[in-house]
Amino acid sequence: MTYLLALDQGTSSSRSIVFDDHGHVVAQAQRELAQIYPRPGWVEHDPREIWRTQLETVREALHTAGIGAAEVRALGITNQRETTVLWNRLTGEPVHHAIVWQDRRAEPACAALREQGHAPAIAAKTGLLIDAYFSGTKLQWLLDNVPGARAQAERGELAFGTVDSWLIWQLTEGAVHATDVTNASRTMLFNVHSNQWDEELLALLRIPASLMPRVQPSSSHFGEVVPSLLGHSMKIGGVAGDQQSALFGQACFTPGMAKNTYGTGCFLLMHTGQAFRQSENGLLTTSAAQTTSTAQFAMEGSVFVGGAVVQWLRDGLRAIKSSSEVQSLAESVPDAGGVMMVPAFTGLGAPYWQPDARGTITGLTRGSTLAHIARAALESIAYQSAALLHAMSRDAVAAGSAPVAELRVDGGACVNDLLMQFQADLLGIPVVRPAVVETTALGAAYLAGLSCGVYASTDELSRLWRAERRFEPTLAPVRAAELMARWEHAVHQATLAP
Ligand code: G3P
Repeated sequence: MTYLLALDQGTSSSRSIVFDDHGHVVAQAQRELAQIYPRPGWVEHDPREIWRTQLETVREALHTAGIGAAEVRALGITNQRETTVLWNRLTGEPVHHAIVWQDRRAEPACAALREQGHAPAIAAKTGLLIDAYFSGTKLQWLLDNVPGARAQAERGELAFGTVDSWLIWQLTEGAVHATDVTNASRTMLFNVHSNQWDEELLALLRIPASLMPRVQPSSSHFGEVVPSLLGHSMKIGGVAGDQQSALFGQACFTPGMAKNTYGTGCFLLMHTGQAFRQSENGLLTTSAAQTTSTAQFAMEGSVFVGGAVVQWLRDGLRAIKSSSEVQSLAESVPDAGGVMMVPAFTGLGAPYWQPDARGTITGLTRGSTLAHIARAALESIAYQSAALLHAMSRDAVAAGSAPVAELRVDGGACVNDLLMQFQADLLGIPVVRPAVVETTALGAAYLAGLSCGVYASTDELSRLWRAERRFEPTLAPVRAAELMARWEHAVHQATLAP
């Protein structure tokens, strides 16, 4: 039997999964990660805890699988993206907590960059909007605010990394300081055309180049795990940010193929091949996972509140006791009875980019019940994702390509059949759920398996991908268009909120 190991370091937990070479899960382990909120809008993780929990899950997953490290052909790393770690190269100690992707502290620096007119050049080089979401201004904040950090950085004593780099550093005991193109593309410091750190952007943000990790294709040899950690060395053969890893694990390798991950938020990515396309409709351009040095791209849109709306029904509204009750409550009514919910709890992300929008419920009548609100909450996940996919299709058509033909889905909420059917109905295209929904970890395992010869090509991976269920659209297109128009009206109401 051939085994591959995936390390999936996410925002809320560290996980490790052992796969066989058919992409089946053999064993897995998971540890929660503490969220640190020092001030409103700030979110941190302890990098030492990230490493400790990750290593514990590796050991547990191997133990549960009943195999030793020597039996694993290679490991792949996938990770929460943009989260920023800065550490001392000599001691290996972080100089500060990691600043998590959700953290907004760098917004003043971003506002200044926007005011100075840098947005078009940054978009052209990086594919990104100027936003505190990305690593660059988080790193700038650390250099400007941690006592002594800038001087140390200028002496070449510090190393910057996203979580993948931090894990590689730990796994190799400081021998390798590297990242992959997908993680680099989320820093706002990386030229996605040349696949190199951009000297002008480093200078603009006053970031010494000596801090930056080496950038490699996502499927390539990153280094060897030191034998003392797991009893045997292991090749690190694949690295990708979690959303690009899921795109890879869903076997979306060619232009126009798209996936949506239904987690706390939703992340919709469409592969665009070697074409760098800038969206006219509020989406980001990002590097897709690469198996060679040739640049590959994807368009990306994110919804800030996806599955989190179900948590709000449970913890805020107290309409349900556990998240799993939402489907039966929503199904207890035939439709939402005209109720629309826009869960703009933290503003609206792509394609609206309305940071000041607030959550709104419209269409209430004397006949509205909690069940209608639950159904509207669930449907809001599909409406937001549909708005993203429509924006992507508009961009694709404007570029002379075909619109997206089917949507592959993964993430926790994709098990909800009601939601998936409604998604297909709104989109008017099939929504396809794969047999293995652990596509984020699977993508990392596949990237590692490709670089060490377990797989010959991505064609082989396409053949391994299997659908578990296809949700075909059942709604007349004119009715779907009416519903989307009502959604857009509700979004407008949400942007009027004080
Ligand atoms: O861009 C942020 C994303 O990579 C985080 O994903 O699944 O850890 O919440 P997740």
